[in-house]
Amino acid sequence: MQINIETIDRLAGIVRSKIKGTPRAAIILGTGLGGLADAVQDPVIVPYADLPDWPVSTVIGHAGRLVAGQLEGQPVLAMQGRAHYYEGYSMAQVTLPVRVFQRLGVEILVVTNAAGGINPDFVPGDVMLITDHLGLAGMAGLNPLIGPNLAEFGPRFPDMSQAYDRELSALARRVAQENKLVLREGVYVGLSGPSFETPADLRFLRVAGADSVGMSTVPEVTAARHGGTRVLGFSGISNKANLDGNTLTTHEEVLEAGKILVPKLETLIRGVLRLL
Ligand code: HPA
Repeated sequence: MQINIETIDRLAGIVRSKIKGTPRAAIILGTGLGGLADAVQDPVIVPYADLPDWPVSTVIGHAGRLVAGQLEGQPVLAMQGRAHYYEGYSMAQVTLPVRVFQRLGVEILVVTNAAGGINPDFVPGDVMLITDHLGLAGMAGLNPLIGPNLAEFGPRFPDMSQAYDRELSALARRVAQENKLVLREGVYVGLSGPSFETPADLRFLRVAGADSVGMSTVPEVTAARHGGTRVLGFSGISNKANLDGNTLTTHEEVLEAGKILVPKLETLIRGVLRLL
């Protein structure tokens, strides 16, 4: 499905008519992390089903609604559930919500994901500040910016040298320290999924410099940066990536880890919003 500026603006108009004010930050909640939206005050809830063309996640652990309101006094818009490429959506559909946020005037995108920990020091329940990403799917031809350039948002060849905002990352480190919360850091690699990686895939990704692995985030961050939106990213480590082939990876453990990760992510995101 081709997404053009008319589709984006129609959706932005509908969302604008349902929520109050202009959201400053949008938060994308990854698998099992939707509970974070419960922290939003004076919530206005917009089910994705009320938004024509909005990609609806078919995956367990994704509620499928927008929650608009206040967090630490900042107007925010949280996405409870995101669509993934592996569900059969095009990259343009996967990144449509980010385009709508940009037209609504959102300045900051906070991305979260559930991810496998490739770095051997990481354990399930750890939060990793994403300092950079490895866009393997994009390198292989699945870049959401392929097609006519949406010049309303940004240039044909956008810079990606600082995809994850250094100032926002510094605030996250400060919040972690003040709250005595262990914050890992590293490179997230985005794959298409839906099958988990083979041990050989994981050994390859490790030597390529990846610390966490998942099936999302990179497309949204690419569209965000194209449009000049500042990005703060966190991986919630839900399982240890299985480089030796001796343990199985399941969606259930990913959902289970979300329960430990949500309070940590809430502390970090609230803390950063408070410091803005
Ligand atoms: N691999 C890919 N995606 C994931 C994983 C994983 O181990 N855990 C959660 N999302």
